[in-house]
Amino acid sequence: MSMIERRKVELRKGQILRIDGPAFIRVYKGRLKIFGKEVIPREYVIIPRAKSGSVEALEDTVAELRIGEGSAIDELKVSFIPPGWESLASMAKLYQEPRILVLGGVDSGKTVLCTYLANALVEAGHKVAVIDEDVGQSEIGPPTTISLGLVEQPIPSLKESEFKDAYFVGSTSPAGYSARILAGVEKMIRRARELGATSIILNTSGFIHGWEAREIKLVLSSILSPNIIVAIEKTQEIEHFLGQFRRVSGVEVVRLPVGYVRVRDRSERKRFRESMYRKFMENARKRVFNRKEVALRYSIYGSGVEGSEELYEAARKMLGEDNVEYIEDAADGMLIVVHHIPRVSEEEVGKKFAKLVIIRQAGTERGLIVGLADSSERFLGIGVVDNIDFRRGRITIWTEVERADIIYFGQVRLSLERWEEQGRFDGFPL
Ligand SMILES: Nc1ncnc2c1ncn2[C@@H]1O[C@H](COP(=O)(O)OP(=O)(O)OP(=O)(O)O)[C@@H](O)[C@H]1O
Ligand SMILES: [Mg+2]
Repeated sequence: MSMIERRKVELRKGQILRIDGPAFIRVYKGRLKIFGKEVIPREYVIIPRAKSGSVEALEDTVAELRIGEGSAIDELKVSFIPPGWESLASMAKLYQEPRILVLGGVDSGKTVLCTYLANALVEAGHKVAVIDEDVGQSEIGPPTTISLGLVEQPIPSLKESEFKDAYFVGSTSPAGYSARILAGVEKMIRRARELGATSIILNTSGFIHGWEAREIKLVLSSILSPNIIVAIEKTQEIEHFLGQFRRVSGVEVVRLPVGYVRVRDRSERKRFRESMYRKFMENARKRVFNRKEVALRYSIYGSGVEGSEELYEAARKMLGEDNVEYIEDAADGMLIVVHHIPRVSEEEVGKKFAKLVIIRQAGTERGLIVGLADSSERFLGIGVVDNIDFRRGRITIWTEVERADIIYFGQVRLSLERWEEQGRFDGFPL
């Protein structure tokens, strides 16, 4: 981040500053606290661009403050900790295994609340797992995944939790992907317990309205079986959900108001995701995988067999003599790779073969996001398709992962090297 100003600040004990990032604060003397994490001399915290944070001086403190473009500093009169947070944390500490479901709309302060709760529980001796159900704006794992981070000492942001595991969903938006999301959350909860977590905090996406959102949130809670459900509400936007727990025993429902939040627009959200792709693609290299030696998922490609000579013959008739590069034929669908998109539609071709047909131009696989896993279905990392030689079954992927047994094809296309989002789509990618 490019810094435009650097200065020394002196804070009196009890003084609180709200800082809109990008900013960097290093303590020289004294002690600061940010979202429940203490920062002592020589330690520093970074507040990224388009995010903000509140620091409180626990004693007279001298710090170095560097700020960048777009940042702002406000002095607050009262503690940053919104009303209700402290009593929620004390309540959570009463449980042997606190399991907390955190709900709220977009930009309601869910992630900061999770950070605060994780810090409070760590201080009470817990090993805390934070699972993020948000496939778009998770601060733990890469976008397109459900991720799991462990917290064993106080942290200023979930970015600094220890990334432990993830489940590849493939999409950056939840609608249409609830089965994968729920499977992922269930798996991360199991993993959290295997790792010895004594407390689980489930952070969620701001997708709270509509049939599918209700479905996801309700099944989430039956998977986690939380002892505390926290709803951060501006008005009553989560009451439709909370009402469903009216007569349920063993779960406390806590409502908190939305406090100060820094709202992010679409392009800031996109930039945040891109910074996360970069983080997980930093040491990516081009690696070749052989279709015969890996299991392919979320695609027709790899789920069937190469089309018979008769099938090629029939396809050429419809799509052009020299146009058909490759056919994959599965029980419930067919992938036809062509050199140029034909005039005849996928539906018409589908009618002819009596199954779902998808037609893809050779080369459009470039930039497709993938997830890689080992033979026990453990997440290894993400990658981006460079190209696929369909005839030879050679899949070339940019990734940090050297060996994989499973490749999942996702719904997002990224530019090579810069890993910027070029688009997203639903349905079979290949
Ligand atoms: N008490 C606070 N003081 C200062 N900044 C805060 C505070 N609470 C939240 N923020 C800031 O507001 C922004 C939004 O908060 P947060 O990321 O927790 O919201 P969210 O509900 O998780 O958002 P999303 O919908 O993107 O997941 C962040 O930049 C966060 O640092
Ligand atoms: Mg969040």
